[in-house]
Amino acid sequence: MDILSFLKKATAIRRFSSTDIKEDDINRIIQAGIWGPSIHGFQPWKFIIIQNKNVIFQISQVILIKSKKLHIGYNTLLKHVARTVENSNVLIPVYNTRTLSKQMFKVGRRYGSCGYLSEIQAISAAVQNIILVANSLNIGACWLVMPTFCHTSINRILNEEDELVAIVALGYPAQKGRRSKRVNINSIVTFIK
Ligand SMILES: Cc1cc2nc3c(=O)[nH]c(=O)nc-3n(C[C@H](O)[C@H](O)[C@H](O)COP(=O)(O)O)c2cc1C
Repeated sequence: MDILSFLKKATAIRRFSSTDIKEDDINRIIQAGIWGPSIHGFQPWKFIIIQNKNVIFQISQVILIKSKKLHIGYNTLLKHVARTVENSNVLIPVYNTRTLSKQMFKVGRRYGSCGYLSEIQAISAAVQNIILVANSLNIGACWLVMPTFCHTSINRILNEEDELVAIVALGYPAQKGRRSKRVNINSIVTFIK
């Protein structure tokens, strides 16, 4: 399949079967992340690969508890995220180690902001690589930013101090995903010829 057709089929999966993902496949998925691009090779990311069901459950529960404290609408979204996390087979919290922006902030605010932007962009590329390679192995994935609402509790569970940027939930699909419709290309693309 050509890359564009593959991208068009890359749906988010939020319901997973209980089949374990093979270690070999987990390694391939991580390789996809670390082979993402980063400014001057800074590689600002850190990944935690959680296969332990008890730890996955603990994280889903702190998300569920937090969901009850959020604004209407967001509470339901976060409750759904808790369910996605709970039934995932492997959970990958993704961290920003901020190795670049910490140095750049010492030079000045705008340098630091540029460093921080480049960290987030590199980490996002790594997450997308992870999801696409997972999909290529017929493993479903969902990119989750909403767990950052409870980054402190999640970090406590994982004994982490770095900045939680996202969590990727993985597992064999137990649902058919659907892509959102795309807005008309003419409304968001400007050609200058
Ligand atoms: C940066 C980012 C954050 C996301 N966070 C969440 C989330 O917190 N909860 C969730 O259910 N899906 C989340 N998603 C998944 C999207 O809602 C969507 O299902 C997925 O990106 C597929 O996009 P589509 O709308 O193009 O089909 C996130 C996606 C991205 C790119």
